[in-house]
Amino acid sequence: MRDFKMAASILSADFARLGEEAEKVIEAGADFIHFDVMDNHYVPNLTFGPMICRALRKYGIKNPIDVHLMVKPVDRIIGDFIDAGASYITFHPEGSEHVDRSLQLIKNGGCKAGLVLNPATSPEVLKYEMDKLDMILLMSVNPGFGGQSFIPSTLDKLREVRKLISGSGFEIRLEVDGGINTDNIAKVAEAGADTFVAGNAIFGSPDYRAVIEKMKSELKKIS
Ligand code: DX5
Ligand code: ZN
Repeated sequence: MRDFKMAASILSADFARLGEEAEKVIEAGADFIHFDVMDNHYVPNLTFGPMICRALRKYGIKNPIDVHLMVKPVDRIIGDFIDAGASYITFHPEGSEHVDRSLQLIKNGGCKAGLVLNPATSPEVLKYEMDKLDMILLMSVNPGFGGQSFIPSTLDKLREVRKLISGSGFEIRLEVDGGINTDNIAKVAEAGADTFVAGNAIFGSPDYRAVIEKMKSELKKIS
């Protein structure tokens, strides 16, 4: 079995109790905290920044924090997230004038780096950056909001990017974000994903553990 990881998106958590919510979802079996940073400019919504990331670390969250930057420009905020305790920092190539430089900023700060592709963005942008990537994140919805439906063409893109990763020889996580639930997670894993973001599916349920366990049992069906 591949090394599957569940990344719980706290975008759908109760923001007034964020520390408790993050702790609870980790106790329920989530591996990563997925941290959606939105700026009301690159995407039409506004969430949280480095101070909240730091607050989660101070609260005692030890698991990897997977920071997904939906901001433009990206470079100025990267250092703040490195200092705030981010583990992964991923960004959209459309948010940076110099993608290679932004990746270097993240790596030089000691964090894992990744690129995020929107549903209409071609994998071409990955080709010459494979050596600098620890994560490739494919959006299976348009970024900005939780609770949207999975876009089926992501499955073909997952297969294409999985091939690219295998051919590169680098160890790169293939993450998928948007509309993941207990019904489609196995299909998404079959297409090549190994890291699964889920927001609404987990936090929209009263029993986080039941949802995460069901997702993990679906993944056990994949060889
Ligand atoms: C969307 C965010 C996602 C979002 C996914 O822009 O990047 O991480 O939280 O939420 P669900 O799982 O509800 O589709
Ligand atoms: Zn996200």
